Amino acid sequence: MTSILVLNGPNLGRLGSREPDVYGSGTLEDLGVALEETLAPGFEMDLRQTNDEATLIGWLHEAVDTQSPVILNPAAFTHYSYALRDAAALVTKAGLLLVEVHLSNPHAREEFRHTSVISAIATGVIAGFGFDSYLLALDLIQRRLG
Ligand code: DQA
Repeated sequence: MTSILVLNGPNLGRLGSREPDVYGSGTLEDLGVALEETLAPGFEMDLRQTNDEATLIGWLHEAVDTQSPVILNPAAFTHYSYALRDAAALVTKAGLLLVEVHLSNPHAREEFRHTSVISAIATGVIAGFGFDSYLLALDLIQRRLG
């Protein structure tokens, strides 16, 4: 069984009520249901969210230790957290897939969102498709590892 970590950064626990015009009206629980429905045989996923940078870094270390592929929405940490980037680099340098995802398209938004300190060390990036960004990432990981 391959376990996929689906890690979400700050404020994503507020999905549903947070700027629904930007992020949609679905909650994190709704996202979990959609991901579960997309799981192929032999795969399981673990959806987590934290507002805390240290916790997110710890989960990336866990991905390395358990050899788990990662879907990561770093939220605002995307734009400035070198500590998170270094932890994410441990994942890809270990040969594990790490897909950076965003619900919105940060490049179509404010200038500060145009920079991702994560993208250069991610395996790839999917942004701008709402929940489908995650579902596409899950599908891709399952196709690569299945
Ligand atoms: C986000 C985009 C980030 O700029 C923002 O800080 C978020 C969510 C997205 O999924 O579109 O919190 O990562």
